Amino acid sequence: MALPEHFKSTNAGGGVIQDSASSASLCGVLAGRERATNFSSDKKGCDGKLTAYASTQAHSSIEKAVRIAGLGSDNLRLIEVDDHFALRPEALAKQIEQDKQNGLTPCFVCATVGTTSSNAIDPLGAIGKICRQHNIYLHVDAAMAGTAALCPEFRHIHQALELADSYCFNPHKWMFTNFDCDCFYVADKNRLIRTLTIMPEYLRNKPTESGAVIDYRDWHIPLGRRFRSLKLWFVIRHYGLEGLRHHVRRHVELARDFARRVQASEDFELAVKPPLNLVCFRHVGGDEFNKRIMDQLNQSGLLYLTHTVLNDRFTLRLSVGQTHTQARHVENAWRLLQKTAAQLQQP
Ligand SMILES: Cc1ncc(COP(=O)(O)O)c(C=O)c1O
Repeated sequence: MALPEHFKSTNAGGGVIQDSASSASLCGVLAGRERATNFSSDKKGCDGKLTAYASTQAHSSIEKAVRIAGLGSDNLRLIEVDDHFALRPEALAKQIEQDKQNGLTPCFVCATVGTTSSNAIDPLGAIGKICRQHNIYLHVDAAMAGTAALCPEFRHIHQALELADSYCFNPHKWMFTNFDCDCFYVADKNRLIRTLTIMPEYLRNKPTESGAVIDYRDWHIPLGRRFRSLKLWFVIRHYGLEGLRHHVRRHVELARDFARRVQASEDFELAVKPPLNLVCFRHVGGDEFNKRIMDQLNQSGLLYLTHTVLNDRFTLRLSVGQTHTQARHVENAWRLLQKTAAQLQQP
């Protein structure tokens, strides 16, 4: 997946399997908070001056993490995005500088690779440079889209990932793995462990103390852990790398095929060019009409569409990522959409 070498546990970093991207991002916020305060907020709590940054399109789990970590949602800056719904680095830089001038302490930036609403890919290189310049922790949330990097032709999504302090993606979203399974990598495992470690007597053991084993208890929020790596191992063994790539490529191809149909139609339009396997589109008949199309289709039991709002407009979303989705399913979806819209237009 073109993950940086320093994420490996043979180097300063390491990876751990968690339940969800939400938990992984929370760990990122906590590690960033402790880095900025030299591990004092772990003991004394937050002083109300720590600030965090993500785009307006970042997943709600980032705000939840900022709340749980005690920064407060008022201290989360939602940075504006460009025409492709990707974070604008110059707006990020400006906000950080302004906050510093106001005596605040920027401690955490989240860049998203594949936003939930539209699959937008934030520019990691430019964001990473800003974080380095201001010594701010950078977490990359690739919950949904990260899997695409299995294919060399989609690896551009991870360009400049070496500038990140942590990264997560969810095999339970687009890698055919049963819920739950999130892979979380850090560049500096000692910082994460120091952030989360508490050592009561009853947890002391020789294998951990001698360094014979990696003890993951301080790499995430809970103490105990499920054996998630087993099911992931089975998935990887079952499909093999080429099998996984085959499905990812196929899904992107099917999504692009659907997008071409939308583009060629007079009644529907794309909200944005789909970067990978998620197509955001709408009927030209306006918000209320699109809501009616979605409700009717979802009630039919034949197709399930989700929605979002992009540029203040109600937007339909079709995601191709299920293990057994084939061309005929996508063709049927398109036919049903056209039929439903035509029926609803009848007087
Ligand atoms: C970009 C992104 N980040 C985070 C999440 C949250 O994932 P989880 O349910 O694993 O916490 C989602 C879920 O849709 C997502 O799309």
